[in-house]
Amino acid sequence: MSAPKKLYIKTYGCQMNVYDSERMAEAMGGQGYVETKSPDDADMILLNTCHIREKAAEKVYSELGRFKGLKADKPDLKIGVAGCVAQAEGEEIMRRQPLVDLVVGPQSYHRLPEMEQKTRQGEKALDTDFPEEDKFETLKQRPRASRGPTAFLTVQEGCDKFCAFCVVPYTRGAEVSRPADRILTEARDLVERGVREITLLGQNVNAYHGAGPNGDMTLAQLIWQLDKIDGLERIRFTTSHPNDMQDDLIEAHGTCAKLMPYLHLPVQAGSDKILKRMNRSHTAESYIRLIERIRAARPDLLLSGDFIVGFPEETEEDFQATLDLIEEVKYGTAYSFKYSTRPGTPAAERAQVDPAEADDRLQRLQALLTRQQREIQDSMVGREVGVLFEKPGRQDGQMVGKSDYLHAVHVRGEGIQVGDLKRVRIVSSGANSLAGELLD
Ligand code: SAH
Ligand code: SF4
Ligand code: F3S
Repeated sequence: MSAPKKLYIKTYGCQMNVYDSERMAEAMGGQGYVETKSPDDADMILLNTCHIREKAAEKVYSELGRFKGLKADKPDLKIGVAGCVAQAEGEEIMRRQPLVDLVVGPQSYHRLPEMEQKTRQGEKALDTDFPEEDKFETLKQRPRASRGPTAFLTVQEGCDKFCAFCVVPYTRGAEVSRPADRILTEARDLVERGVREITLLGQNVNAYHGAGPNGDMTLAQLIWQLDKIDGLERIRFTTSHPNDMQDDLIEAHGTCAKLMPYLHLPVQAGSDKILKRMNRSHTAESYIRLIERIRAARPDLLLSGDFIVGFPEETEEDFQATLDLIEEVKYGTAYSFKYSTRPGTPAAERAQVDPAEADDRLQRLQALLTRQQREIQDSMVGREVGVLFEKPGRQDGQMVGKSDYLHAVHVRGEGIQVGDLKRVRIVSSGANSLAGELLD
């Protein structure tokens, strides 16, 4: 038998890309590939890319440039670009960087094995279709690999919201929910491989409406089905849109013990004028009322958000409204970005904010978010939380896991194994993580 070929995948962007990279590696497993952590000994390099901001997209080309030497030393090395830059730029990628052999979009990567074979015959392979055939049905033939106690599971693809700044509806296509039975089968398969926490993924995951035995199911109904799987201890989902936060999902936060007290609910901005121009179809007020209702169902919920500063036509007053909203809501974690012009999106045509002004706003916003994040993290000291252990810590005898609220927690303890879920008392709060003691 010949030695297995080696595949190096580098993933950029969101969790959906992390899931896709895992599935691509599994699909290539059928071609005799095993994953390697270094590009130096790879027979194939795949960059799974993100197009969300200009910098993310440009990074791909600088990374590709770095593989020139490798390809010169090893002419058989195949280089591929997958993901959202592949979808958005297609053939242009091969024109700009001729060492690229293969370009595959996020909805057609189940065809990767055939594409790889084509490259082995010396041809270039390009596929950025949104095929009718179901990507997940094809991928089902490849079992999920064991990768530890936590796993992502994509339940919905695409997005129909068309926020004025965002490329996702163009790179991922229309919103489609996977049927519930296939998700449940995949979840059971993961649990059999040692997974104890599943994060359901979709760009608007709370708008999930996949086919179930009695018509379409809501995300909450799907969560209740997952709740029945023995051995699955924790359920999370991301990302949610404020307009799709249905009553049964809010209620599940109070009643489903496996559903973790953490919610990523991006608002983007706090000014109604800007929200309208972003095409977000919610107001600051409706968002705040929604948070109140969710917190009434689950008072200890840790809230996470996304923010964009310097969106076209944002004034200092508009920006102040974002700071006010953050002061009121209080976020346990947050991701914030300076607006990046994306060609082809409606906002790209509008009057841009002065970049220096946008930088200054981003700094002020991040200072506030960091302060809140720290306060909420510090408030965990003295509390009892569940921790699912994921890996050994840097110090001897130490293990690291995630709390129910998704904080990293370091614990010293004899005999803690990866995959153990234990009760822990938090004893101190550091720069980016908590420390705790085992209770049982
Ligand atoms: N579907 C999710 C988020 C998808 S993209 C949602 O609706 O919330 C992740 C985040 O990237 C967005 O929430 C937004 O904050 C940010 N983002 C998207 N497009 C951007 C752009 N053009 N410039 C800067 N940030 C952007
Ligand atoms: Fe982008 Fe808006 Fe869709 Fe989120 S909801 S993926 S921000 S278009
Ligand atoms: Fe980026 Fe595509 Fe995800 S643009 S954020 S990788 S859906």
